Amino acid sequence: MHTFFPLIALALASLSLVQGKSLILTHAHKAAVKHSAGLARDLRVAFGGILATQPSSSSNQNFYCVGSDGEGVTMPPSGNSSSSPTVKGNATSTGMAAPSSTSVASSSWKVADSYSGQTFFNGWGFFTAADPTDGNVQYVSQSTAQSAGLIEINSDGNAVMRVETTPQVQTNRQSVRITTQATFNGGLVVMDAVHMPTGCGTWPAFWTNGPNWPAGGEIDIIEGVNNYTNNQATIHTNPGCILPSTTSASLNMSGTLVASTDCSASQTGNQGCGIRSNSSNSFGSGFNGIGGGVYAMLWDNSGIKVYFFPRGSIPSDISAGAPQPQNWPAPMADWPSTDCNPYQYFNTHSAIFDTTLCGDWASAVWTGTGVPGQDVSCAQQTGFSTCSAFVQASGGSFSEACKFRILSMFYPTSLTVTTDWEVSSVVIYQNTS
Ligand SMILES: *[C@@H]1O[C@H](CO)[C@@H](O)[C@H](O)[C@H]1NC(C)=O
Ligand SMILES: *[C@@H]1O[C@H](CO)[C@@H](O)[C@H](O)[C@H]1NC(C)=O
Ligand SMILES: *[C@@H]1O[C@H](CO)[C@@H](O)[C@H](O)[C@H]1NC(C)=O
Ligand SMILES: *[C@@H]1O[C@H](CO)[C@@H](O)[C@H](O)[C@H]1NC(C)=O
Ligand SMILES: *[C@@H]1O[C@H](CO)[C@@H](O)[C@H](O)[C@H]1NC(C)=O
Repeated sequence: MHTFFPLIALALASLSLVQGKSLILTHAHKAAVKHSAGLARDLRVAFGGILATQPSSSSNQNFYCVGSDGEGVTMPPSGNSSSSPTVKGNATSTGMAAPSSTSVASSSWKVADSYSGQTFFNGWGFFTAADPTDGNVQYVSQSTAQSAGLIEINSDGNAVMRVETTPQVQTNRQSVRITTQATFNGGLVVMDAVHMPTGCGTWPAFWTNGPNWPAGGEIDIIEGVNNYTNNQATIHTNPGCILPSTTSASLNMSGTLVASTDCSASQTGNQGCGIRSNSSNSFGSGFNGIGGGVYAMLWDNSGIKVYFFPRGSIPSDISAGAPQPQNWPAPMADWPSTDCNPYQYFNTHSAIFDTTLCGDWASAVWTGTGVPGQDVSCAQQTGFSTCSAFVQASGGSFSEACKFRILSMFYPTSLTVTTDWEVSSVVIYQNTS
């Protein structure tokens, strides 16, 4: 672990990833940033990774609309994704309903803030500043997102957030980043999604963040890039917050530490304490393939934990809106309070969704392999040598509600990039016991 910093510097220099700009130092100075926590680990893996053979190319150009059951439905060639029929899966029929106040009698956890259904977007601020992580996105206001079709409540009652699909852009695509206006100190955040962005160039996240970064702390609940299928949860803090062990067993978690045991943003090149899920259904296409699931983040006196429950394995107490975290199986990630006081290093958090494209993490690992889900690099799959070039040129491969697959002579393989978050609910509980 002590060799990470020089390794990153070497790797960044040799790959010319940041073009003279110091990624690490730049980000340590920005407030409310979304961080490239996985970068150090990814670079290490990329250097040891194998180069897979390039998939055979196709000379045909066809368009498919892929339902969420994964079945391809052939569509007539058309560049206009917004006019194409949507194939609806039925994954949402098992989504949990927002809890009612009458159903939580058996739990000490009471709803503080709830976002679902037609009013999902009430109570969120739309971030419109430049992307702090240097992605090829321009985050837009709620009214712009609405009129551009980037947000909606769909016919299943789920909140959808997506990225602009204009075939070609010069620099950035419009995207959405939303932050709860309500804040919390400690609590239980329960988020149910049926779909998330995935594919080359994407970098989606669901996370929580405090003021005066990193003093208020950052908790990345869901994060990853490109074709990754295993979630990485990470905390970033002021100096002094430490993981007491490197082993999953002693941390009582199912995930694996992939970054530092020192969670300080400034002392480790902002790696943070990153933990990768052992479930290939926890992120990206793996997550979408099972109709998503529920993520829960518990922040209490014992520390901070992130749980993932795949669709079909969601505890009934969660579905009933009466969470009993003490009865849940081991979390995927656990940062115990033993060497990190969760009320000293974290305060006044908001929950945040965003989708950026390329940027500091997805661009940096564009040529990388070896992370679960990324057997073949995105450079190889797309035929584009940089993430930005692909994303700027390939809006036609960016789907909306329906997932497109493009087979063309221009691309070396079929490409599917799905940019939609489809969220059933976010509920933030407080313990009243
Ligand atoms: C795509 O189709 C929609 C609905 O028919 C239409 O409103 C829109 O103008 C079309 N966009 C393009 C780029 O052709
Ligand atoms: C989804 O499942 C529900 C409950 O089984 C059923 O009533 C509904 O018709 C289904 N919807 C679709 C689109 O298949
Ligand atoms: C793991 O769980 C055991 C049993 O509940 C507990 O004794 C131990 O302190 C926990 N370890 C950490 C690091 O929280
Ligand atoms: C993940 O870890 C848990 C707990 O150690 C274990 O029960 C489960 O089988 C693991 N899953 C995979 C896919 O390795
Ligand atoms: C990886 O990403 C590419 C491009 O977005 C996509 O076409 C491909 O289907 C993805 N692979 C997997 C296994 O999801």
